[in-house]
Amino acid sequence: MPYQEDFQVEQFMDKYENYAKYNLGETCCYSLSLDEIADISSSEPFKLDGKKRLTYGAIKGTDELRSQIASLYGPEFTKDNVLITNGAIAANFLTYYSMVGPEDHVICVHPTYNQLHSVPKMFGAEVVFLKLKEEDGYVPNIKTLKSLIKSNTKLLIINNPNNPLGTVISAELLKELCQLCQNHGIYLHSDEVYRPTFHSLPENTIKPPSACEIYDRAIVTGSMSKAYSLAGIRLGWIVTKDLQILRTAASRRDYNTISVSMLDDSVAQYALKNVKPIIKRNLELCITNLQILNKFVEENSDIFDYVAKPQAGTVCLLRLKTIKEGDKFAAFLAENYSVLSVPGEALGVPGTLRIGYANSKNDLVDGLPLLKKAVLDWTNKAE
Ligand SMILES: Cc1ncc(COP(=O)(O)O)c(C=O)c1O
Repeated sequence: MPYQEDFQVEQFMDKYENYAKYNLGETCCYSLSLDEIADISSSEPFKLDGKKRLTYGAIKGTDELRSQIASLYGPEFTKDNVLITNGAIAANFLTYYSMVGPEDHVICVHPTYNQLHSVPKMFGAEVVFLKLKEEDGYVPNIKTLKSLIKSNTKLLIINNPNNPLGTVISAELLKELCQLCQNHGIYLHSDEVYRPTFHSLPENTIKPPSACEIYDRAIVTGSMSKAYSLAGIRLGWIVTKDLQILRTAASRRDYNTISVSMLDDSVAQYALKNVKPIIKRNLELCITNLQILNKFVEENSDIFDYVAKPQAGTVCLLRLKTIKEGDKFAAFLAENYSVLSVPGEALGVPGTLRIGYANSKNDLVDGLPLLKKAVLDWTNKAE
């Protein structure tokens, strides 16, 4: 059996998620109900065709849904560039299952969502980290990347916007990365599950394109979970211009998926018909909630600061200035104050907490004072 690292983030969240009262660990923009989608978009409520037989449905996802997803990436894309999966987690897994093996060298940004480095390792690849550093604004450094490339480097893995940092690879840097990959014959996997929540980019900065729009050997994964607030339908996708990779992925998927639920496919179609109001609602939510978090961090600068100021996505890392063991503290916070966060230790950044700020505003308003109280109680206890 292949060696598998424990997925510490998922395990920590699973332990506390369903009983913590204040969820500051959430990575999705506050989840939507179908009735709320109808409300915010003034559209017809979602209706299930009660007469429709529940078969396996369209194996790769319906033509309608794949066309809708293709249109998120621009006019050059059609349904033939899209494969539907059970969430981005399955899209990522399938990408590596289709592409990497023991003979391959893989470069992955760090920190990032653990799956992006642990699964290529599971398939036997040699995985090295491209560390995101403060002096580079926590985005990839081209010189460092060049020094990591080997003759058997198959894949570069990025996550844009980044979980857990909330940083963004700019359009210019993305172009440079793609050019470098092209020069060395390297594929690029870009996990873009937080796209298009670019809510706090510095002034006069343009939103970066999706990697698949500018590089033919880019494989992009996305889903309905985060930016579209529908994690409950477990619907994600792979988009690429590389049809050979997509064919391999579809063939590999026959063994572990067959098809994604017809019901999920139809809910995703309904949501994507209303994509504008959903994204508008979520950008506003991110901006409002981030203002609350910014104020909290500013007012408590003796105990917290941002590792990087978030520019996009739904999460950020807060440095705990007075506490070294983020993991023990996060368990203390969940168990005694009913506040869920994620310890930075689970993401390879000790002494920090990952905060998800795009959940309901009340979780932040009520949870943040408890977070502060827990830090003070913990520090007093230690003295
Ligand atoms: C970067 C990243 N990729 C993929 C996923 C998986 O998302 P889902 O399977 O819900 O689409 C997550 C979830 O937290 C994530 O943060």
